[in-house]
Amino acid sequence: MSEQYVWLVTGSNRGIGLELVKQLVSSPSNFVIAACRNPSKASELQRLVDSAEGTLRLVALDVSDMESISKAAQEVSGIVGDKGVDYLVNNAGVNPGGRDTAFSMDVNILEEVFVTNVVGPAYIAQAFSGLVEKSAKKTIVNVSSTLGSMGADYGTQCTSYSLTKAALNMLTYKEAKEKPEITAISMCPGWLQTDMGGEGATHPVSVGVAGIVKTVLSLKPEDSGQFFNFKGEKVPW
Ligand SMILES: NC(=O)c1ccc[n+]([C@@H]2O[C@H](COP(=O)([O-])OP(=O)(O)OC[C@H]3O[C@@H](n4cnc5c(N)ncnc54)[C@H](OP(=O)(O)O)[C@@H]3O)[C@@H](O)[C@H]2O)c1
Repeated sequence: MSEQYVWLVTGSNRGIGLELVKQLVSSPSNFVIAACRNPSKASELQRLVDSAEGTLRLVALDVSDMESISKAAQEVSGIVGDKGVDYLVNNAGVNPGGRDTAFSMDVNILEEVFVTNVVGPAYIAQAFSGLVEKSAKKTIVNVSSTLGSMGADYGTQCTSYSLTKAALNMLTYKEAKEKPEITAISMCPGWLQTDMGGEGATHPVSVGVAGIVKTVLSLKPEDSGQFFNFKGEKVPW
């Protein structure tokens, strides 16, 4: 049997995370841990477990809660053992500030978004680093956005969200610098038709996710510390 790789996807209850889990479990090369806030209420994920023939496990993980992250890391360690986690995908994210601007945004919301979009992925990387390091692929994917790119210049809106994605990008850079044995990247999934993507989104979620999987599977160690989009193109910081 060919080698099986372990993926862990946060925020897998809906949207990009759910689609990632769907696409990953369709290949026998993947063993998938779908992390979400409340597995007992995640009906779509539970249906997938029934058809996945043992290659999908659900784990409770609230990325805004450090205790939940630590508990999940212990649980995942018990599931995967010495195989570790090949691909840690920090996908969970929020944008409660909508199209807020620098001078009008509610800074309490900025704080809230920062916890989920930056503090969570930072602590998850720490809590899971041992599992990532013992794996074959040793890869961390931080799901970011071109809204966090200064080079892309999206103007005045979506400020609280953009700030957190710019910070997440710096986290990717720091992770890659500190541990050269790990491949850490930021990934913009494209503007996708999910609850967050909203009405105007340009691509079906299946298209963006297929692009993410293709790009991640073709990463080389020298790609670490870079920012890619779902087409495999480099995004300016
Ligand atoms: N859609 C786009 O166009 C787009 C573009 C660029 C970047 N992104 C990024 O892609 C990622 C996924 O976005 P999406 O479009 O799939 O968003 P979405 O449809 O709003 O889904 C967000 C997911 O994150 C989960 N989540 C939120 N807070 C969480 C927490 N504290 N703990 C655990 N899970 C949590 C949600 O869980 P519940 O179901 O429990 O609420 C849900 O599963 C985000 O990081 C987003 O910033 C999206």
